[in-house]
Amino acid sequence: MTLKVSMKMLILLVSAISLAWRSHGVEGEISISEEEDAELERQLKIINKPAIKVIKTHYGDIYDCVDINKQPAFDHPLLKNHKIQMRPTSFPKGLFDKASSSSVEQPSNVMPSEIGLKNRCPPGSVPIRRTRKEDLIRVKQNPSDFQPLTDRASGHTFTSNYVNSVPYHGAGALIAVYNPTILNDQFSSAVMWIQNGEKNTLNSIQVGWTVNHALHGDNRTRLFTYWTVDGYQRTGCFDTRCPGFVQVSTEMAPGLAFENTSLIDGPKYITKVVIYQDSSTGNWWLSFSENNVHIGYWPKSLFTGLATSASYVIWGGEVYSLSSSGEDSPPMGSGLLPFKGGKEACFFNGLQVIYDSELKDPIPSLLHKRKIANRYCYDADEVEKYNDMYYYFHFGGPGGQNCGF
Ligand SMILES: *[C@@H]1O[C@H](CO)[C@@H](O)[C@H](O)[C@H]1NC(C)=O
Ligand SMILES: *[C@@H]1O[C@H](CO)[C@@H](O)[C@H](O)[C@H]1NC(C)=O
Repeated sequence: MTLKVSMKMLILLVSAISLAWRSHGVEGEISISEEEDAELERQLKIINKPAIKVIKTHYGDIYDCVDINKQPAFDHPLLKNHKIQMRPTSFPKGLFDKASSSSVEQPSNVMPSEIGLKNRCPPGSVPIRRTRKEDLIRVKQNPSDFQPLTDRASGHTFTSNYVNSVPYHGAGALIAVYNPTILNDQFSSAVMWIQNGEKNTLNSIQVGWTVNHALHGDNRTRLFTYWTVDGYQRTGCFDTRCPGFVQVSTEMAPGLAFENTSLIDGPKYITKVVIYQDSSTGNWWLSFSENNVHIGYWPKSLFTGLATSASYVIWGGEVYSLSSSGEDSPPMGSGLLPFKGGKEACFFNGLQVIYDSELKDPIPSLLHKRKIANRYCYDADEVEKYNDMYYYFHFGGPGGQNCGF
């Protein structure tokens, strides 16, 4: 087999993996032939890079510690000569500023949800979630014509607020972490979108939490990322399931599960995510500012519009359900509507955007709410300012029948 053929295989395969969440059945119901099995084994050898060390999480995921310079990102044709950036050369003023993070005042029962590998990867290597045979089997069940995460594709519903009209170089937010109950062919997420362009030129970077059985193989709430540069046509994928995202952290990676999730009327667990563009390299960094971790970045060279800046930022909930199946649409957020308030409904707070090299509050006149198809299924409040301190909103809903898919 020539190298050319194997690269083509890899690209086909990763585009199939990026559709992985659209599977229907239970893996156990699928029977595969011996030849198919051998083929899957062969594909796994291409996708999974040799491990320097193997880390198993207590919930059963395997992370391979892969040589940082041989990580899957560098299989991307645009990243052949990419010089890895180990740390951001710059980050927005206020990002790791204790004063600014404590100025986002929290009720006393709000805590960060624990996340991260208990054992780090050794220096010079980074954790990459291992693709297993059952992940590929879920991929095999997917029709290839499906486009993930676009509001033009049927089956998706969003509730969100957005801010526009300024060249943004990033954004951040605290998100309450919940664990909604979903069926295996659905997902339910809370997402921050950083975008530029539209339709086929849409560049998008997304981060948040998701419960997505087809993607991750279980019903845990996990950190996820997504990117595309052509409106979900041919590029992009979730997490590190296709070449693109450069992993740098030795302990934090996309796909990891949140250890603690909020309960309605109980303790609230949050996560703080920040995406920002390094002002000298133009790379888009993903950071956890609670514990000062730079997870990694999407190189500037992957993008068109986002190579310069983002033109809008969206925060909100997203659910997916097969439009034709007749099943109930899944819950979003905590499963309760926003009018219930922060004790019962999911929320975003401390909304911030980056412009002029600083983390700043969004400009109120540029904040807008997106229209919702059926406000009894899902909704989002308009963004409000709390005690003159920070911007927040509640979102979510129970789903059910006739939710406008
Ligand atoms: C998640 O899956 C486990 C194991 O299949 C099951 O016991 C549990 O009830 C599920 N939880 C939710 C919230 O769906
Ligand atoms: C979060 O979950 C972990 C793992 O289950 C547990 O050890 C820890 O005590 C929890 N933290 C809080 C603050 O509840």
